[in-house]
Amino acid sequence: MPRPILATVHTAALRHNLARASACAPDAKLWAVVKANAYGHGIERVFDGLRAADGFALLDLDEAQRVRDLGWRGPILLLEGVFDPRDLELCSRLSLWHTVHCSEQIDMLAAHKTNVPQRVFLKMNSGMNRLGFKPESYRSAWTRLNALPQVDEISLMTHFSDADAKRMGQDGIAHQLATFNTFTQDLPGERSLCNSAATLRYSAQDLRSDWVRPGIMQYGSAVDFPEHNIAHWDLQPTMTLTSKIIATCALSAGDTVGYGSSFMADKPMRIAVMACGYADGYPRLCPTGTPVLVGGVRTRTVGRVSMDMITVDITELPDAQMGTEVTLWGRANNGAVLSIDDVAAQAQTVGYELMCAIAARVPMVVDAG
Ligand SMILES: Cc1ncc(COP(=O)(O)O)c(C=O)c1O
Repeated sequence: MPRPILATVHTAALRHNLARASACAPDAKLWAVVKANAYGHGIERVFDGLRAADGFALLDLDEAQRVRDLGWRGPILLLEGVFDPRDLELCSRLSLWHTVHCSEQIDMLAAHKTNVPQRVFLKMNSGMNRLGFKPESYRSAWTRLNALPQVDEISLMTHFSDADAKRMGQDGIAHQLATFNTFTQDLPGERSLCNSAATLRYSAQDLRSDWVRPGIMQYGSAVDFPEHNIAHWDLQPTMTLTSKIIATCALSAGDTVGYGSSFMADKPMRIAVMACGYADGYPRLCPTGTPVLVGGVRTRTVGRVSMDMITVDITELPDAQMGTEVTLWGRANNGAVLSIDDVAAQAQTVGYELMCAIAARVPMVVDAG
């Protein structure tokens, strides 16, 4: 028997979440963001659930190739553009649209020999200070691109740092939006502004975002947790991580659990050991009290997460025994949901990191229902 740990990707939940993005931005076209191997889910596993999108946005050329291999003939956007002049050959061959965020990428385009002009998304650094042209040099970058025979259509793009503002205590998107609008005034072309947080929290129509770029919301994580959870946003978990109890143990008051003896029973208890640890991608930082579902009933971890095991309090769960199903995040067999955000918050991180960090040794299957 293989070790009892499994990740399941839910196609119906992906479809539902994508439909939510579409409902939030009914007039916009949707880029389904599938970078980082579809946020850890696997591009091939999410493809069916997201194929209603207008295009796929990602980073790596090999991921773009994989989307084409799945039979996708529609738009694919490279969110960081090309890294090397040779990448432009592949852009032509695979018909990829690409972001242009720096003058070196314009140089590469100018030197590129092609008969097929390329569609580009010109990125402005409107305040995030990661990728993009500074507002003052945006128009001259546009003019340079527009003069190149290698370039077909130019779309306008920026990325918000604080669309989930309440969580971050910042001033939201107002400052970046004003900058983008000022410096793109009168420039023709479609605009792409919204990530998940902006898609959920603002009107794409008001922002004039012809394309929205939802990532994390497609995968059933709330952009502004704990202010709001996935139930608030009507999103469904797209990944369930399950394991099973592999041993149970009775504790007396004063007994400790695991490395560092960080947990001490203050009364007689029953605990269970499950086959999941940090080598599977479960965060080691999760402290005693992290929620977990045993047989679909919410309880808590006790003691430190170790490489291959976690210990769980089953004192109030007399039916729990060796082989009982445990849900680390996602949806249990009885329908109970434990959001990945609940677990991530305990580890002082976000759902993005947990889903991307599922280890290669964890088998992953698709629930195509
Ligand atoms: C340029 C760009 N657009 C869209 C996204 C999707 O963001 P999110 O997953 O927060 O929706 C990302 C992710 O970081 C990004 O870098």
